[in-house]
Amino acid sequence: MRRNIVHPGADSLNYEIRSIVAIGRRIESLGVDMTWENIGDPIAKGEKIEPWIKEKALEVMNDDDSWGYCDSKGVQDTREFLSKCVNDRGGPQINAEDILFFNGLGDAISKIFSEMRREARILGPSPAYSTHSSGEAAHSGYEHLTYKCDPKNGWLPDIEDIRNKVKYNDTITGILLISPNNPTGVVYPKHILQQVVDIAREYDLMIINDEIYSHIVYNGAETVHLSEVIGDVPGIALRGISKEFPWPGSRCGWLEVFNRGNDSNFDRYVKSLADSKMLEVCSTSMPQMVIPKVYGDSRYIGHLQKRAKMYESRSKEAYDILSPVKGISVVQPEGAFYMTVVFEPDVLNERQSLPAANQAVRNYMEELIKPGLALDQRFAYHLMASQGVCVVPLSGFCCSEFGFRFTLLEMDDEVRISTFKKLAQAIKDFLSC
Ligand SMILES: Cc1ncc(COP(=O)(O)O)c(C=O)c1O
Repeated sequence: MRRNIVHPGADSLNYEIRSIVAIGRRIESLGVDMTWENIGDPIAKGEKIEPWIKEKALEVMNDDDSWGYCDSKGVQDTREFLSKCVNDRGGPQINAEDILFFNGLGDAISKIFSEMRREARILGPSPAYSTHSSGEAAHSGYEHLTYKCDPKNGWLPDIEDIRNKVKYNDTITGILLISPNNPTGVVYPKHILQQVVDIAREYDLMIINDEIYSHIVYNGAETVHLSEVIGDVPGIALRGISKEFPWPGSRCGWLEVFNRGNDSNFDRYVKSLADSKMLEVCSTSMPQMVIPKVYGDSRYIGHLQKRAKMYESRSKEAYDILSPVKGISVVQPEGAFYMTVVFEPDVLNERQSLPAANQAVRNYMEELIKPGLALDQRFAYHLMASQGVCVVPLSGFCCSEFGFRFTLLEMDDEVRISTFKKLAQAIKDFLSC
């Protein structure tokens, strides 16, 4: 090209959760049945939609209005409904204008970063859900700035690390939290969220909390929404229905904006998010119209409780199978539907392998596994080639620890338990090489 048309952040667009699929598919084509443990899609893992939720969606579909455009910010009635839900918690009071719909939270996250001034940085967790870390890195043109979440401390954020980074790097303009967390499954208790908000208040920052899993909480943890701790600090909560209805194909997520009026620069930025939505006309109307009908139904709480119980029992199942394995550590999740295995320092090396399922796969592995490949990626590739299980290496989550993430989503009890056992055995075999 006459001019370089590639954005400086183009190399940062990395989504290991999906990029590993190409390798898995190739291995599958060579004769290995693959169990896909890479993606957080409950439907793909066999969850059936509650008939009453389907009926609500059908009612909306039968309403011709749901086939049309809606307001750029989203369906007015739904935004009013959601703002009331926030206000009922008693924190900062918002109205429909403070709710902004997107085509899934992935779309919202991209807009959050693309509309932000390049020099303004958001400090995010490590490990991190890749859409955030890649989005922030791509927007700034630099590596994503992260704070540590410590597996030895139940994956909680290291508050001192946050404070130091904020204090000594004045480009940091906001702190991103993901609670309940993907990939670790930790739910931040109220006092931790409060401490992060206090840092934001002290240094004049905004807080973003990704709450897409906020209604999938178990093992004694409690849902704490950002609105319950944000006080007077500018903040944005990210919400969606992909995980909790669950309806990932709806491509429907929204922002709840707090304390817009307390900072004119924050207010201008939020306006730019809404303006950018206007250029696109609007997000998908139909799922937005379903939200009040489902959230407002008395059966919804029971539905959430049933799912939380299901993940609680699966988290115990996975923990019981994996925690005795030497050379790794696991933390029992309290929210979302993932579990992360961390390899202890120095247990991985470039000589380790697992027997490939057949000669063709062995040949492919020789092509694929090159010196310098992240050691947890090597493990993940060998795991696919040998056991036919596809997990996501932790190094793909902007993390310096080696490990991997798998899901608690499989609905078939036998398949799920057998997968957890395969993981435990593969780790033992790999580490004993
Ligand atoms: C933490 C987190 N945020 C956002 C998303 C994106 O969700 P959506 O389906 O609404 O785009 C995901 C999806 O896995 C996620 O795990």
